[in-house]
Amino acid sequence: MQLYIDTANLAEIRRAAEMGVLDGVTTNPSLMARENADFHDHIREICRIVPGPVSAEVVATESDAMLAEAEDLVRLAPNVVIKLPCTVDGIRACRALSDRGVRVNMTLCFQPLQALLAAKAGAFLISPFIGRLDDVGEDGMQLIQQIRQIYDNYGLETKILAASIRHPQHLVQAALIGADVATVPFGVIAQMMKHPLTDLGLERFLADWAKARPRSAATAAT
Ligand code: G3P
Repeated sequence: MQLYIDTANLAEIRRAAEMGVLDGVTTNPSLMARENADFHDHIREICRIVPGPVSAEVVATESDAMLAEAEDLVRLAPNVVIKLPCTVDGIRACRALSDRGVRVNMTLCFQPLQALLAAKAGAFLISPFIGRLDDVGEDGMQLIQQIRQIYDNYGLETKILAASIRHPQHLVQAALIGADVATVPFGVIAQMMKHPLTDLGLERFLADWAKARPRSAATAAT
């Protein structure tokens, strides 16, 4: 499973990139608004830090206006992916962009038929929002499962990008189901290598080594 970071914060992106396991970045208007930066300059900078796909979302709601915004965004860097909402206008814009070879991430996906149409319109990524479905008492993971099965039934190549990930268990489940990508907030990436038994085990190894070392040093000297 590929790993993207879901943030527009440059410090978080740099720290995740330094781990050497980051495949891409997703941003959205809410995440961008927190950064208080020029949108285009900021996307350019993110694209310099991470060579993989960087999703930049349009804010227009009508397809021609979406295409006009996308036109400017694709010029920022070759790794920009255009993020469009799962609406009828979004699907129309997705078709037009995909036909020109522009990669599209269809976002705000909450039911499997949106994912089916996104794939038929040539989307590069579909973003089902797990956490937001869980928030309203639905089962976000079931949506990932349904999309996986539909795409596999028909050999659809759009990649499933598990989004709105809130905790490590979301990631484990999405990976088991076979999501192609997960986009993950920095806090959850930081949790991915954590287990209290790892910390405890390391502490013991180091303590045992520190106790044994003077003896080994003495043996070596005789
Ligand atoms: O990538 C979409 C994601 O940012 C939504 O996450 O936590 O705002 O539902 P959340």
